[in-house]
Amino acid sequence: MTDQKNSDQATSSEKPWGGRFSEPTDAFVERFTASVGFDQRLYHHDITGSIAHATMLAKVGVLTDDERDQIIEGLNGVKADIEAGRFNWSVSLEDVHMNIEAALTERIGITGKKLHTGRSRNDQVATDIRLYLRDEIDVITEELTRLQNGLLDLAEREADTIMPGFTHLQTAQPVTFGHHLLAWYEMLVRDGQRLQDCRKRVNIMPLGAAALAGTTYPIDRNLTAELLGFDRPTENSLDSVSDRDFAIEFCSFAALLMTHLSRFSEELVLWTSAQFDFIDLPDRFCTGSSIMPQKKNPDVPELVRGKTGRVNGHLISLLTLMKSQPLAYNKDNQEDKEPLFDTVDTVKGCLKAYADMIPAIRSKADNMRVAAKSGFSTATDLADYLVKKGVPFRDAHEIVGKSVAFGVAEGRDLSDMTLEELQQFSDFITEDVFDVLTLEGSVQARNHTGGTAPEQVRAAVQRARAART
Ligand code: ARG
Repeated sequence: MTDQKNSDQATSSEKPWGGRFSEPTDAFVERFTASVGFDQRLYHHDITGSIAHATMLAKVGVLTDDERDQIIEGLNGVKADIEAGRFNWSVSLEDVHMNIEAALTERIGITGKKLHTGRSRNDQVATDIRLYLRDEIDVITEELTRLQNGLLDLAEREADTIMPGFTHLQTAQPVTFGHHLLAWYEMLVRDGQRLQDCRKRVNIMPLGAAALAGTTYPIDRNLTAELLGFDRPTENSLDSVSDRDFAIEFCSFAALLMTHLSRFSEELVLWTSAQFDFIDLPDRFCTGSSIMPQKKNPDVPELVRGKTGRVNGHLISLLTLMKSQPLAYNKDNQEDKEPLFDTVDTVKGCLKAYADMIPAIRSKADNMRVAAKSGFSTATDLADYLVKKGVPFRDAHEIVGKSVAFGVAEGRDLSDMTLEELQQFSDFITEDVFDVLTLEGSVQARNHTGGTAPEQVRAAVQRARAART
């Protein structure tokens, strides 16, 4: 339970379902089965859903207009109490739904008891979670967009900066830093698309399914859906109250996003190390060590990398929660909330940290350049050069291999050898070889859509910006 006050005064006879029970709930069972400690977070959406439900009930003649108005006023009063910290959440009233309904009845009397007509907590909770998640998806979309825009700006600034590209974490070929950053951008674009796709299936309204079979009242589900901004009501009442696949889908989006951020984090951690020293992260995103005065630790990327574990875990929790549940609602589903809430909180926090941090990254272009030169990163360029002069690729590979072995023995890069030295390995090598052996020549030569040339990086940034507007 968070900062709200609690009171446990309600006895079993006060419980909304107490009618058929002859003894009070066991004290431990009461606490064990309660969800109010965590589902009170849904209060706002619960009240929004109830106001729409009451409005619809009045429209179809199940409530009078006066009853509807009392209920709406009462619910708004309850909301004000909760927001002012004046609300006593009661564990014996089990969950957010029964707490709010009891408070409403306390405020407006018998009319409060009519709100639950044609509804069950089963369709109510499914509606609340969808409303909550829809709002959070929109907040997450904004943060993700902020991060994506920051990456595009940084990529543009770093379009000409040359760094080593890696495979197996061994120097492979030179790339531009801007191009490398755009790889992260592409992953985040797909994450954003997955999120928007997930939102379509979140934004469908279960209300009206009641406990499982629908209701005998002449409800107008299209009206309630419209009032709540849902695209449409769900098609099947049993499915409506039982499945949580929309939440699983969200967690699956989140697990992939965090996997991407975790990989990105790993690189930031490596790049800030003394051994790589490719970038500088401003002090405000780092912390020090209490024993080693020289330390400046990349805590933000490390924590984001670490938090991937809990998000992946929550996805597995929800999949396992859903597995084997018979139709329709089962109390198991009460366990959906904590993993979902923590996933939302974690993703929002990590995206905020990243969106704030990325624009502040400064490249150390000189160090990147030295590193790019040191691992024979233009060896493939030399092979391609020979092939273009008519040497079969396999022979070219052999020639370059021998040149590299010579360079290793001499402690020199290919571009630092003389023409005569290079000609020991092939007569096809002439003065123009140095155009391809330089780092600039290497990246500029990869001048096609999706390639690493600075010109292509700038074009990709322009295309990406155009696609966003
Ligand atoms: N607190 C419950 C949940 O989170 C609400 C639905 C309870 N329904 C029921 N029939 N016990 O799932």
